[in-house]
Amino acid sequence: MTTSYSNIHYKEAICSEDEFTILDILLTERNQFVSGSYLAEQLGITRPAVWKKLIKLRKQGFVIDAVRNRGYRLAQEPEILHHGLLRYYYLKAVTIPIDTLCFPVIDSTNSEAERQFTYGRKSPFAVAASAQTKGRGRLGREWYSGSAENLYLSVLFEPSLSATTLQSFTLWAGIYICRELQKYIPNASLRIKWPNDLYCDGRKFAGMLTEAKMDADTLRSIIFGVGINVKSKPNSFPKKLRSNATSLYAIHGEKIHLNQLTAKVLQATHRAYETCTSSNPPESLLEAWAPLNALAGKLVTVFQNGQETSGVVSGIDSTGALTLRQSNGKTLSIRAGEVTLKKQ
Ligand code: BTN
Repeated sequence: MTTSYSNIHYKEAICSEDEFTILDILLTERNQFVSGSYLAEQLGITRPAVWKKLIKLRKQGFVIDAVRNRGYRLAQEPEILHHGLLRYYYLKAVTIPIDTLCFPVIDSTNSEAERQFTYGRKSPFAVAASAQTKGRGRLGREWYSGSAENLYLSVLFEPSLSATTLQSFTLWAGIYICRELQKYIPNASLRIKWPNDLYCDGRKFAGMLTEAKMDADTLRSIIFGVGINVKSKPNSFPKKLRSNATSLYAIHGEKIHLNQLTAKVLQATHRAYETCTSSNPPESLLEAWAPLNALAGKLVTVFQNGQETSGVVSGIDSTGALTLRQSNGKTLSIRAGEVTLKKQ
């Protein structure tokens, strides 16, 4: 499906029904050979027609072994986002009610989510892309989005709640996503730098950007965007990012399936939303945040509206504001701003 905005055309990646049926069988029988006649029978097509579809799947990045008298076996998944694999296989396994659109390239997944919503797409839904031409970061910055091996994902929710209820949404999303990613990387400690950066050993590997649209006092929609450096090699980042950026691959050194990880991140985001909007959340924000706080006990400077404030980070308060102990002994709550570590 192609979506056109003025003279820009974004083509959604869609796996055909037949291709998906073959994939489903090969994925279910992973590591086993499946005969060509069995596939032909399941699809109601000839064996040469099955072969043509297998060639198409190979072009999409699947490595499929073919052995005479044994059949076909899935040896490797694509390293990049694949609509069929994500939507009909990995998302099925996590069972969340989030319809997911995939684009090979888009300006920004946050912008596309907003456009889809304006044109009437039912929420919640997600937009994922292999590359962004105008990836946005916080505070008007650009988000490097040039590697198809990384994740660019946005989820739109439509909460009829007051804005204050969702003040802490980005923090909850950070907590759930960080915990999920930590499962892939047991030998390193992943942490959150308030309010929206994921760090490991002083380097950033992911950032979150939540954008809300308001109707009077009520939230009309929130778009949660997350960019995760999954498989980028450190020297592939633009020069200005190299000293501060890392990726899950660079931390861990082992392969991570991008499509599986995308499904897990969507699941984590959905859980964060449920917790944040629940009248009886399963855990307290303060307790969940404390062990993941990258800034705990650190001397920091916060820049906010042209003002500079320094103090030692004690944690967050129940609304999600960062709490600083100042040199005069007073505690200050910071709701927004850019936090930098002070050299001690
Ligand atoms: C930051 O650290 O400044 C936030 C970065 C957020 C980047 C993600 S990538 C997917 C989504 N689409 C965007 O344009 N931005 C967010």
